Amino acid sequence: MTDNIFAHEHPESERARGGGFTLWFTGLSGSGKTTIAHLVGPALDERGHVVEYLDGDTIRTHLSKGLGFSKEDRDTNIERIGWVASRIVRHGGTAITAAISPYVETRQKARDLVEQFGPFVEVYVNASVEECARRDTNGLYAKAYAGEIKGFTGVDDPYEAPESPEIVVDTEAQTPEESAQIVVQKLEELGFVGSEVRA
Ligand SMILES: Nc1ncnc2c1ncn2[C@@H]1O[C@H](COP(=O)(O)OP(=O)(O)O)[C@@H](O)[C@H]1O
Ligand SMILES: [Mg+2]
Repeated sequence: MTDNIFAHEHPESERARGGGFTLWFTGLSGSGKTTIAHLVGPALDERGHVVEYLDGDTIRTHLSKGLGFSKEDRDTNIERIGWVASRIVRHGGTAITAAISPYVETRQKARDLVEQFGPFVEVYVNASVEECARRDTNGLYAKAYAGEIKGFTGVDDPYEAPESPEIVVDTEAQTPEESAQIVVQKLEELGFVGSEVRA
């Protein structure tokens, strides 16, 4: 269906503004991606970054409305998020993504898109499936274990943990505030974020 589409890439405006980066949270449903993203975002805002959130559930109600949870649809969703994140970074913004993004290969595709314009920082939000199911923030694990939802990540669909993420947080051992602090500190160490908070 793409045979008759001639994408024009506008190379004349490909120059990145600089200063932007993508903070890519990955982890099981209920591991804490959204919670930590919304603690880190304001901290970056205070340090002068223009922050945009690309949260999986929000993206699925807008940009990816109608997509399901087959491998193909999941990959399409993640590639869309990666592409939008790359555009935000090109303009010097900070994209904070929070989608399960279960496949290594697809996260790499998102990384490749973003790294054309700026850094990609992968944050592995680690919590066991048992703990996520115990939290069951949205009641989805109960439905998945009852067979009412098929292809649920961590129950009957794969989750491929990152092998060398820039940051790992352990949300079984840390509070959300501690996890967020680890992320911000690491961003400072990497030199992507200044430590000075605006008045
Ligand atoms: N260190 C932590 N970081 C983030 N969330 C945590 C942590 N410890 C406990 N939680 C709890 O885990 C749940 C995570 O839910 P949510 O952020 O919606 O997950 P996700 O976006 O990954 O699906 C929340 O109820 C949160 O309070
Ligand atoms: Mg979430």
